[in-house]
Amino acid sequence: MRKPIIAGNWKMNKSLNEAKSFANTLLSQIKDIHDCEIIIAPPYTYLDAINQIIKNSSICQSAQTISNEIEGAFTGDISINMIKDCGCSHVIIGHSEQRQYHHESSKNCHIKCNIAMKNQVIPIYCVGETLQERNENQTLSMIKSQLLDCLNELPIDSEELIIAYEPVWAIGTGKVATPEQAQDIHKFIRDTLEKLTGSSIANKTRILYGGSVKPNNIKDLMKQPDIDGALVGGACLNIDSFVELINKTNYVTH
Ligand code: PGA
Repeated sequence: MRKPIIAGNWKMNKSLNEAKSFANTLLSQIKDIHDCEIIIAPPYTYLDAINQIIKNSSICQSAQTISNEIEGAFTGDISINMIKDCGCSHVIIGHSEQRQYHHESSKNCHIKCNIAMKNQVIPIYCVGETLQERNENQTLSMIKSQLLDCLNELPIDSEELIIAYEPVWAIGTGKVATPEQAQDIHKFIRDTLEKLTGSSIANKTRILYGGSVKPNNIKDLMKQPDIDGALVGGACLNIDSFVELINKTNYVTH
């Protein structure tokens, strides 16, 4: 059984006051949610303050990335131990904005996922094709190489992993993949994972869809057998739409 997940990626948004007020309101509105895991990924500078608010609740906190080094002279970087100190149980790795603006490669994601797993932090590893790759029929080969370059030789058999399929052309554009398009890729990801890890781990791994997920399209996406939740950007910033996404996902277990 795979419990669904709604993960909100705040990216570089909100003031500290807005972040705290969001967390307090979220806490008060999810008392009846037992069948959906909730993750929020605030910017680094808010992690500690948010942790103080949610630490005794079922809400999990994620960082938006980590350094691929453990400590030392790496100006501007944030280490795995630092995010753990701020209460993070998860970390997003390989988000397309990191790939695009910070030249993150899948091989580098391997180093980061390895560090996360060895420190009992669950990676949310993002893959997805650009519009050009989709138009050139490169979608499956691109996703396969993103998966293999990162996941090969990771200790997935003992540590947990979440994968997010986020077609780059759907992120922040309002162009959501159809449920069938998304399902095809999710199935492909699960099949690729099965070849790497065997069926029991592949069947347990949650695969989230990301890219213009909104309260009005989540139900159709969640009807697909291999879609286990969503990684949400724009629609997670507003408390009402985030809570609506959680409520609409609360009963769907694959
Ligand atoms: P979006 O972002 O929901 O605004 O498309 C998703 C993401 O980047 O994770």
